Amino acid sequence: MRANPAPLMLVLLLSVAVAGGLRAKGGPVYLDASQPREARVEDLLRRLSLEEKIALLHGDSKFTTAAIPRLGIPRRWLSDGPHGVREDIEPDTWKPAGRTDDYATCMPAQIALAATWDPALAQSEGEAIGQEALARGKQIMLGPGVNIQRTPLGGRSFEYLGEDPFLAGRMATGYIRGVQSQGVASCVKHFAANNQELDRMILNVEMDERTLREIYLPAFKAAVEEAGVLAVMGAYNQFRGQHCCENDYLLNKILKGEWGFQGLVVSDWGGTHDTYQAACNGLDLEMGTENRFYDDYYLASPFLAGLRSGQYPLSLLDDKVRRNLRVMFATHLFDDHAPGSLNTAAHQATARQVAEQGVVLLKNQGAALPLDPLRIHCLAVIGENAVAHQTHGGESSGIKALYEITPLQGIIGRVGDRVNVTYAKGYGAEGSPDLIHEAVRAAKEADVAIVFAGLGHGPYFDTEGTDRKDLRLPYGQDELISQVRQANPKTVVVLVSGSPVQMDPWLADVPAVLEAWYGGMEGGNAVARVLFGDVSPSGKLPCTYPKRLEDSPAHACKAYPGTNGAVRYDEGLLVGYRYFDTKEIEPLFPFGHGLSYTRFEYSNIKLTQEAEAGGPLAKVEFELANTGDRAGAEVAQVYIHQFQPSLPRPFKELKGFRKVFLKPHERQTVSIPLEQSAFAYYDPDQGGWLAEKGDYEILVGSSSRDLRLSGKLTLEQTSLKRLILSARLTTH
Ligand code: BGC
Repeated sequence: MRANPAPLMLVLLLSVAVAGGLRAKGGPVYLDASQPREARVEDLLRRLSLEEKIALLHGDSKFTTAAIPRLGIPRRWLSDGPHGVREDIEPDTWKPAGRTDDYATCMPAQIALAATWDPALAQSEGEAIGQEALARGKQIMLGPGVNIQRTPLGGRSFEYLGEDPFLAGRMATGYIRGVQSQGVASCVKHFAANNQELDRMILNVEMDERTLREIYLPAFKAAVEEAGVLAVMGAYNQFRGQHCCENDYLLNKILKGEWGFQGLVVSDWGGTHDTYQAACNGLDLEMGTENRFYDDYYLASPFLAGLRSGQYPLSLLDDKVRRNLRVMFATHLFDDHAPGSLNTAAHQATARQVAEQGVVLLKNQGAALPLDPLRIHCLAVIGENAVAHQTHGGESSGIKALYEITPLQGIIGRVGDRVNVTYAKGYGAEGSPDLIHEAVRAAKEADVAIVFAGLGHGPYFDTEGTDRKDLRLPYGQDELISQVRQANPKTVVVLVSGSPVQMDPWLADVPAVLEAWYGGMEGGNAVARVLFGDVSPSGKLPCTYPKRLEDSPAHACKAYPGTNGAVRYDEGLLVGYRYFDTKEIEPLFPFGHGLSYTRFEYSNIKLTQEAEAGGPLAKVEFELANTGDRAGAEVAQVYIHQFQPSLPRPFKELKGFRKVFLKPHERQTVSIPLEQSAFAYYDPDQGGWLAEKGDYEILVGSSSRDLRLSGKLTLEQTSLKRLILSARLTTH
């Protein structure tokens, strides 16, 4: 498909030679790393011909843009994202390049990262990915994905950060800071309202302005305004009748206008549809357009022709080029930079830590977990997900992992010869009653049975391009679990999935359930360490697990998947727990839920007013104590409820959290700032965020449905945006 395939090695050598030569002479401003970035951008911009500028705005292979040897501009590489650095593919097809040097560290799926509720850990993950990107020669990493989980069926839920905009924003911000600290650009995606895979290329999404601002944009806004993300990827779908990669409102008005974004907007691969719309509505880099030669991409020769004929002003072109150059300088494309590192023990340790910290203990009746290997002679490990490899799956987010520890391997590695571990597949796509019989036999003969159930990355499960069809476990797993449980009351279920599943046929009978997600290359070790108590589980659900699909808001409102390529988000603001709380519907497991092997006690809440102008408005302080005999971590969560708001609001919303690691019997004072934005809602009439005067309840707890402390706070004055308030605080 490439029009004029350039010999890559030659181009690179030439680029280096020219750049080296210019630098040696004292050279131009743009090659002088000591010059301010904007000065370098302007200098290089002046030197580029019209054609060279155009070359910077579109791909010249699936994941690169062209080098410009005359000016020493090297080829620029983008890469998926977000779980590590993806394997290289052929320049012009999606086939693997077949290299032997593109194995990488595979982190757990992003939903597992979200379940850690630990932005500092997200930052460590980002740093590791940034280092691997450097080592692999990639300048722009395509992640994180921050689209809100609107339906549990969403095919890419596993790649995103859950249902809550605040949590997603905190985790994304940590991740982006980590990647970018290495001199690699992070590209937050998919902007915006890409909340289902079904019909994603054509779907037109409609929603009211408040919903857009309060639910679907905040994580992107945090990425831009707080983390300084260098790149944003437009989504495939349309928003209010315009494709997101060519969407004037989203890209020009909000992203670049209101938020002041100075970096580049890249299309999703094949998300560009029209030269005029792309050129005028905010796209800066076109990638992956199918069925066209690279020179015929919408932002290539058709745009060039329009510039030559005067249809577009040169300022439009220069703005796009500046944005591309800014990112090129920020990623040290022209300068010496650290070599990075690939597949290090430290990166693998980070992968394991994320996986461990993300495991959610959903149920643990009678302290069924942790297991004591000294008391077990025979352990039956059951289920295809105990042996299935997951890291390469899910389409663009798949990684060619250096290795992958499956749960079965992790368990065998943990218990060694001390325990006799048997394995039975139990279920599979081919489905056979023999599989269940074999599993039941293994369970009967064992002291404990662990069923690794869940989904996978096949079509219609956790994958790109399709949504799930229902909430059920596939391949007769409900029946398998029930029969194994009958055979052995000490049955533990470990779910390997990236989105909620229905559990009613067996949940009441099974003493312990873990959600282990897709744990990346170290997932098997991580889950074994949790099962045997080397680490106490501390993950919390980043999304609500409904009892039935019909309880879930988009489905209850019959507002999914839309009809004739259009969907209206009729549930509005009531996404996830906002809906379950406001409508008083009992979930299977609530947002923020996750048990521990130890116990935490909350006490002594105090609300204090912060005096400093521009600082947080208030602070909530409380004591957290580990009253058990094991070390563990608790995610303390702060929700705010407004009494009598002028506009309808969700019953409560997450506005702060802190993951606290405590030794046995240790206690700590936890302090969580509440910014003015924590109280505000988006007022569509005023076009701004409004913190309304009145009373608010501050709720502190271990999950959205396990609230332990509360206090009351009164704002005495209404403020729009950043007025400083005088607040009177009362604690109950
Ligand atoms: C996905 C993006 C990905 C791109 C490049 C698209 O299909 O939606 O998330 O970054 O492909 O692989």
